[in-house]
Amino acid sequence: MKLIEVKGYQEMSARAADYLAHKVRISKKITLGLATGGTPEGTYRNLIEDHRQNYTSYRHVTTFNLDEYVGLAGDHLNSYRYFMNKKLFDHIDIQKSNTYVPRGHVLDIEQECLDYEKLLIDHGGIDLQLLGIGSNGHIGFNEPGTPFDSKTHVVELTPSTRKANARYFSSLEQVPTKAISMGIATILKAKEILLLVSGENKSEALAQLLEGEITEKNPASVLKIHPFVTVIADHAALSASKVRC
Ligand code: F6R
Repeated sequence: MKLIEVKGYQEMSARAADYLAHKVRISKKITLGLATGGTPEGTYRNLIEDHRQNYTSYRHVTTFNLDEYVGLAGDHLNSYRYFMNKKLFDHIDIQKSNTYVPRGHVLDIEQECLDYEKLLIDHGGIDLQLLGIGSNGHIGFNEPGTPFDSKTHVVELTPSTRKANARYFSSLEQVPTKAISMGIATILKAKEILLLVSGENKSEALAQLLEGEITEKNPASVLKIHPFVTVIADHAALSASKVRC
């Protein structure tokens, strides 16, 4: 696991966007795994800026998002499909038909999980997966206790995750209780993983990842067994870790 320490959120976002844009430019065809939430927003802003300034093209790019809330349709303001369209896809030249986000508003949610997992395999898997981390160590929406061999599945969101995400909703009650998420095994199948961590509220989770044991109690700890992981973390996120660079 390679650790890159940066000053703060802006530098993390700029470094991550450079990394992603470079990969996109040098590939003939590439499948990116994408995340939502506050962490990657700055990265997406930088990618849009790079697309405008340097004409980096996304015509050959396919994307698969990590997760989606159960019960929210793609045009719901809080759905992750809507987030991705507004924060990235609407501003670059990617073909929308090549962007996949699990569908949270379907009758058969279990079938959607199976279909999403199959779709990923049919597309040859993910070349580069972008990840954020929850303050409880979750990756995707794989909460503590999720089996490491899990595939795309329906998850029950913990009260702490719902509380953390309530900032995007009008009230805590509005935050869905369930989500579809790629499983841990699904995430680990990515050829390469780029984890972004910013802020003091993530410092315990990051210290647990860098210094703690590999355990299902801390989903992110599984990243230590993946052969190609880069972590870009800022000073605040590293404030509880002994490991520094
Ligand atoms: C989002 C996702 C989550 C977030 C995590 C951190 O697609 O998979 O694991 O990365 O909850 O969220 P933020 O970035 O909002 O702190």
